[in-house]
Amino acid sequence: MAQRLAEQLRARGDAATAFSCEDVPVAQIDVAAWDVLGIAFPVHSSFAAPVFRDYLEQLPPADKPLFAVTTAGYWAGDTAWYAAQPLTRRGYRLFLCANVLMPNNFFIPKMDVLPVTPPERVPRFLERAARRVARLARRIHAQERHIEGTGIIGRLGGALQRWGYSTFESRMLARFSADEQCTGCGWCVRHCPTQSWELRDGKAHFMDRCIFCMRCYSFCPVQAIQATEKTRRVTKYRRYQGPEGKRYPKLVR
Ligand SMILES: Cc1cc2nc3c(=O)[nH]c(=O)nc-3n(C[C@H](O)[C@H](O)[C@H](O)COP(=O)(O)O)c2cc1C
Ligand code: SF4
Ligand code: SF4
Repeated sequence: MAQRLAEQLRARGDAATAFSCEDVPVAQIDVAAWDVLGIAFPVHSSFAAPVFRDYLEQLPPADKPLFAVTTAGYWAGDTAWYAAQPLTRRGYRLFLCANVLMPNNFFIPKMDVLPVTPPERVPRFLERAARRVARLARRIHAQERHIEGTGIIGRLGGALQRWGYSTFESRMLARFSADEQCTGCGWCVRHCPTQSWELRDGKAHFMDRCIFCMRCYSFCPVQAIQATEKTRRVTKYRRYQGPEGKRYPKLVR
């Protein structure tokens, strides 16, 4: 989504670039060189995933316009606004908060609220999302003020979901494990943002630093990663492999 937004902004004449927080360490960022800062991230229980929160906390203070765009599987509430607060407290001027609905990637036992979006419904999501991104790009280009999700329902629902997730996370979310299908390919070890996997004797072993980004679970080439016994039922507990049904594209380590 961030890449699509940057493309749309470039089409309007802006020199926009998009990069992943996993590729560019905060120390390499020169905020002074930019006119506008934008953040874009998937909703993680009405907040940003902890790795991205930490990244935002480390960005230097600046008096710059800021926009925040989220992707959500069903409801974003006040997430964009809430996650941007550490930046607004350090001088950034938030002019746009918005959400783009994308396929849902999160469906594991005890958190099986809405199923992972089936592949045949993904193209419709993408078409709608592309139109939405184009409209947002027009607003961002004009630096038009547009703040979504901060009404009473957005704020209350967001606060409740953040509280519920932080309070019950350890009980609701099972630990992952690799089953006997694991080939020891090491994909999960190389791609986990929190180094929660290591290879021992040619098999993947889970360690307890997981932030539930779902990357290993969704992209293990042989679907060997399970949240519980139930997730062996791969037709019910479907793995979502990105909007274009492709393998996760990066090899970070
Ligand atoms: C731990 C976790 C929590 C999530 N919480 C929410 C949520 O609160 N609201 C929501 O609509 N989607 C939630 N999702 C779904 C993702 O936000 C959604 O599938 C994602 O934005 C898809 O976009 P992407 O393809 O850009 O990653 C959650 C996903 C995970 C893994
Ligand atoms: S990605 Fe899957 S098969 Fe490869 S090491 Fe990890 S659990 Fe095993
Ligand atoms: S879901 Fe997998 S890849 Fe993501 S943090 Fe947890 S162990 Fe790492």
